Amino acid sequence: MSQILPIGGGKGGAGKSFVTAGLGALLAKQRKRVVLVDLDLGASNLHTMVGVKPPDNGLHRFMEKSVSDLELTAVPTLIPNLFLISSAQCSMEIANLYYQQKMRIIKALQTLPYDYVLLDLGAGTSFNTLDIFLTSHFGIMVFTPEPTSVENTIRFIRTVYLRKLKLLMKKHSFHSAVKDSVDQAHRGQLNTPDVIDRVLRYDPEKEALLRGTLARFQFSMILNQFRKINDAALGEKLQIVCNRHFYSDFEFLGNIGYDDRVHDSINLKKLFVHKYPYTETATDLKGITQQLVSVCRTKRQLQAANHEKLQ
Ligand SMILES: Nc1ncnc2c1ncn2[C@@H]1O[C@H](COP(=O)(O)OP(=O)(O)OP(=O)(O)O)[C@@H](O)[C@H]1O
Ligand SMILES: [Mg+2]
Repeated sequence: MSQILPIGGGKGGAGKSFVTAGLGALLAKQRKRVVLVDLDLGASNLHTMVGVKPPDNGLHRFMEKSVSDLELTAVPTLIPNLFLISSAQCSMEIANLYYQQKMRIIKALQTLPYDYVLLDLGAGTSFNTLDIFLTSHFGIMVFTPEPTSVENTIRFIRTVYLRKLKLLMKKHSFHSAVKDSVDQAHRGQLNTPDVIDRVLRYDPEKEALLRGTLARFQFSMILNQFRKINDAALGEKLQIVCNRHFYSDFEFLGNIGYDDRVHDSINLKKLFVHKYPYTETATDLKGITQQLVSVCRTKRQLQAANHEKLQ
């Protein structure tokens, strides 16, 4: 089964596309079959990060229904084993997907025949972004050391949580006070842990369902554009705060150093890890790729063990 890895985080420009391209290339170099899917709909640029021209084939063909299999819209890149599904040729309206269109994409993503399916998401917390992020129980968030980026990351996690809770409450009947608490939390009038407290008070028999659902999520965090003047422990601190306040697993994968050559590689339309493989930033990306492979393996083993226990 493929490992779907959505890459998001609230803030624009943090480096989601740069990290997606780098991780994808490094996984492919380990002989994994990898596809990168550009889901920054309406603002796609992942093709440039991996050094290919906007391909004629891509997501637009799946959206127009001229092909029914999303796999047929993937194009090869210069790196063996690394493929791209680009949305560069999609029409402008693609940014505002209809519900049916979104569900069709989500379903198709789950059947892509690769070892890793990396989803490059846009900034912000639109329902489309959140629902695509929730395609998998494993999500990656990219942030920078700026306080605004850290704030947006926490807001992104809260919104993902509230979206998940809302979907859960649509599927199972919850007390109206619990449902109201999700809306209040959305308006910023209540903290996310308070929603759980309401469940304990009004729907105690749903506690296991709620905790079980949230505990299945594994969030990995990457701090990009790290500079020497920044706090080297910032990522670990954020990991501790998130593990304390939310009910999922948060893992900090590491820092990626700021390097002006990232800008140069994008200007040259070349994949950074290919053009500058021996820089500190490329080494950081390699270390994070190793961490990621190991976290994915552990999570899969845990899930398999839980599955066996239930049978
Ligand atoms: N490690 C880095 N060192 C130096 N510059 C970087 C680094 N990572 C990203 N950048 C710069 O930040 C810019 C934004 O990166 P990128 O497009 O990957 O962000 P993004 O999060 O995908 O943005 P958006 O939300 O707009 O999709 C790049 O054009 C590049 O110039
Ligand atoms: Mg991007």
